[in-house]
Amino acid sequence: ESSTEVDISAIQPGQAVKAVFRKQPLFVRRLTEKEIAEANAVDVSTLRDPATLTEMTKEGHEDMLITMGVCTHLGCVPLGAGEGEVKGEFGGYFCPCHGSHYDTAARIRKGPAPLNLQVPEYEYTSETTVKVG
Ligand code: FES
Repeated sequence: ESSTEVDISAIQPGQAVKAVFRKQPLFVRRLTEKEIAEANAVDVSTLRDPATLTEMTKEGHEDMLITMGVCTHLGCVPLGAGEGEVKGEFGGYFCPCHGSHYDTAARIRKGPAPLNLQVPEYEYTSETTVKVG
């Protein structure tokens, strides 16, 4: 199976871009300090699919949120990567198909989706390059 290389150097804080990994959308988002603070302020025990921001990212790169862009309800592509301010009630991603809201750590917060956006296997091959898969 093939892997995908993503150059993250041009992604600014607050910006999320879409890439493609194994024919599916991949979201790559550089969080702002505010978004990181919002993610870390959540009581993880209250979450449907408990995870910390640290667990959703890589050590030393907690500002880079890399997930599949596939809603865990029925597979629509959520909004929030490249649609400006369309990020849902929790500032991350919003799936318009049936109204699932994900937060700034891509954790499901409201709506029918059962799980957080999936974090694919990936690694940093340099400070600015990520190899997914
Ligand atoms: Fe996203 Fe149903 S597919 S809410």
